[in-house]
Amino acid sequence: MRKNTALDLLKMKADSKRITMVTAYDYSMAKIVDAAGVDMVLVGDSLGMVIQGMPDTLSVTLDDMAYHGRCVARGLKKAHLTVDLPFMSYQVSPEQALQSAGRLVQEGKAQSVKLEGGARSVPAVERIVAAGIPVVAHLGLTPQSVHTLGGWKVQGRGVEAGEQLIHDALALQDAGAFALVLEMVPAELAAEVSSALEIPTIGIGAGVHCDGQVLVVNDLLGFDLDFSPRFLKRYAEMQPEMVKAVQSYVEEVRSGAFPTADHSFHRRRGPAKLAKVY
Ligand code: KIV
Repeated sequence: MRKNTALDLLKMKADSKRITMVTAYDYSMAKIVDAAGVDMVLVGDSLGMVIQGMPDTLSVTLDDMAYHGRCVARGLKKAHLTVDLPFMSYQVSPEQALQSAGRLVQEGKAQSVKLEGGARSVPAVERIVAAGIPVVAHLGLTPQSVHTLGGWKVQGRGVEAGEQLIHDALALQDAGAFALVLEMVPAELAAEVSSALEIPTIGIGAGVHCDGQVLVVNDLLGFDLDFSPRFLKRYAEMQPEMVKAVQSYVEEVRSGAFPTADHSFHRRRGPAKLAKVY
């Protein structure tokens, strides 16, 4: 079995096939989502929140991304692996962007990298693509700019902002991006962008007309029931199930119900072999 490539994903748009993407941050989850048949796995810098417990993505480092990238890569057989370029790993210059992207490919085993931003990110996209590394772009709510955006808000609601976003999307496509994540933008705007572009749009809180969808796997599986944004659909509520399972373990260890003889190893029958000691 071979992994999906950027070209396979581009072809899915041409063939009107919807693209499925989820995040993953470790080997075990990578095996699960790959077995479920997702087309793309994103090692997102959302790991700052869901893995590291930080309030935003800003303190995630390139080392963090490379580490989680290679953990996830070992669990994938078919899904395409995209790894996020974290804050300050590509904004300084196109050369810095290429060096960071190169590390994510060499050390993080990424097949493609994702970066945030519109026109200002075009030189970085061009430089990375020219070096042979496929790029996914990201517009709308771009979490690395949370302080400029003033919080986690829907973007592109006004006419001007919407036009700017369409302009940015076309510029990123021209720069060589092979896909575009659209996060928290009005459904009508996402529909317009999706029909204007040849590359697939992958929505999160961007309505029903994107060419694909992405969710953070921890959210999709209900690992944290306190997190309930409007765009999220939970396909399981794992948090209470997992708490219940660990509670049962705690109770059984305390009461002596676990482990039993069945969980134990035993000596060999017959005379014990004497180890030779030199
Ligand atoms: O970091 C992330 O997980 C993302 C997705 C939400 C698109 O960028």
